Amino acid sequence: MKQRQGLNRRRVVAAGAFAASGAALLAARPADQGAPHAGEFAAIARALKAAGLAAQPTLVVDRARLRANAAKVQAHAQDHRLALRLVNKSLPSLRLLDEVGAAAPGARQMVFSLPYLSLVARERPQTDVLLGKPLPAAAAAAFLAAPPASGFDPTRQLQWLVDSPHRLAQYRDLARGRGQPLRINIEIDVGLHRGGVADEETLRSMLQMVREEPLLRFAGFMGYDAHTQKIPDIAGARERAHREALATYQRLVDVLRGSPLMPQAGPLTFNTAGSPTFRLHDGSGAANEVAVGSAMVLPSDFDTPLLADLEPATWIATPVLKVSDFAAPEGVGALGRLARAWDINHRTAHFIHGGHWLADPVSPPGLSTSVLMGLSSNQQLLIGSGTQALRPDDMVFFRPRQSEAVLQQFGDIAVYERGRIVDQWPVFPARG
Ligand SMILES: Cc1ncc(COP(=O)(O)O)c(C=O)c1O
Repeated sequence: MKQRQGLNRRRVVAAGAFAASGAALLAARPADQGAPHAGEFAAIARALKAAGLAAQPTLVVDRARLRANAAKVQAHAQDHRLALRLVNKSLPSLRLLDEVGAAAPGARQMVFSLPYLSLVARERPQTDVLLGKPLPAAAAAAFLAAPPASGFDPTRQLQWLVDSPHRLAQYRDLARGRGQPLRINIEIDVGLHRGGVADEETLRSMLQMVREEPLLRFAGFMGYDAHTQKIPDIAGARERAHREALATYQRLVDVLRGSPLMPQAGPLTFNTAGSPTFRLHDGSGAANEVAVGSAMVLPSDFDTPLLADLEPATWIATPVLKVSDFAAPEGVGALGRLARAWDINHRTAHFIHGGHWLADPVSPPGLSTSVLMGLSSNQQLLIGSGTQALRPDDMVFFRPRQSEAVLQQFGDIAVYERGRIVDQWPVFPARG
């Protein structure tokens, strides 16, 4: 009798434990992450359809958000008496660049390749250009051999970036060979260690070379400091790196100003920063201008506290081709069934037009890729609960992680404003 009572108690305890773990398991099951498009994305989808742009992957820019971001970036520069230089490769469309300020008289751009230099010099001949990377002297030679007939004057409007005595010698030889003056901006290493001059000795020797060659005109420094916000922030590493970058810049400018090699040039360009760091510059450092591109459209890689007041302004929109119950491919069918049974967000399959971009799905919410299917540039699978209520020909939206090299993958940019597609902006050719 006693034995039986013990047995019953054990059974009750076991049943209780079973029920409790079952409840815990149920509680751990993922909730439905899905929902239909919020109003804003529904409105953009309607506008794309109305404009006949819903049949292909299309890049959309929200003009109001773009203008608001540009106004904030410009206000920061103005408030701190810093010039603003637009990063050409991060905003790869002349009309997009115009929209954020490049159309203003004397507007400055940082350009990173020969094809884009030629394009800007030809199509926007008023632009003041600083190269953002040291191009091979052969690229400079090619540009100078076929100057645009637009009125762009390289002697006045173009600063070639030079990172070493060796490259400076190449540019000097180019200037001599052509009998043509070249403006030289020296890349300085303020801590990124991507290149440029780090030590005073090398800087002095380069300034000496510039001084000895009347065809070379010293134009300034470029010191890029994005690392100060990209490195892991271990024990205040970012703050320290920022302070060191400022100090290095100042030290090298002091070398220049204090040296008899100080050129008799006009105003000099002391460029620094990029989207991740321009807000750290308040005009009290040696730099007198900041370069900014990506922040204008705020791709997701730039979601940082320093840029928290800016808004995403660009998306990839693409049509859904097929919607069905999710079935994983043969070979992993059982795993697919398990995933479906466990996670409501694995119930529905959506195959879209294109995919595998440097971008993440943002609307409707609750869509994700599946490890059981992988990625595809042709027809990407997005799984979801089905609560998104998507049907074939409906649109889904991705947010780019970066703008460089992504914005020009879709043909003309569709410009969205107050419920309509109001313009289409051609993009740069992919080969930059
Ligand atoms: C020299 C230089 N300056 C500035 C930038 C910043 O560009 P963005 O504002 O798009 O981050 C870059 C980006 O690569 C760069 O190489």
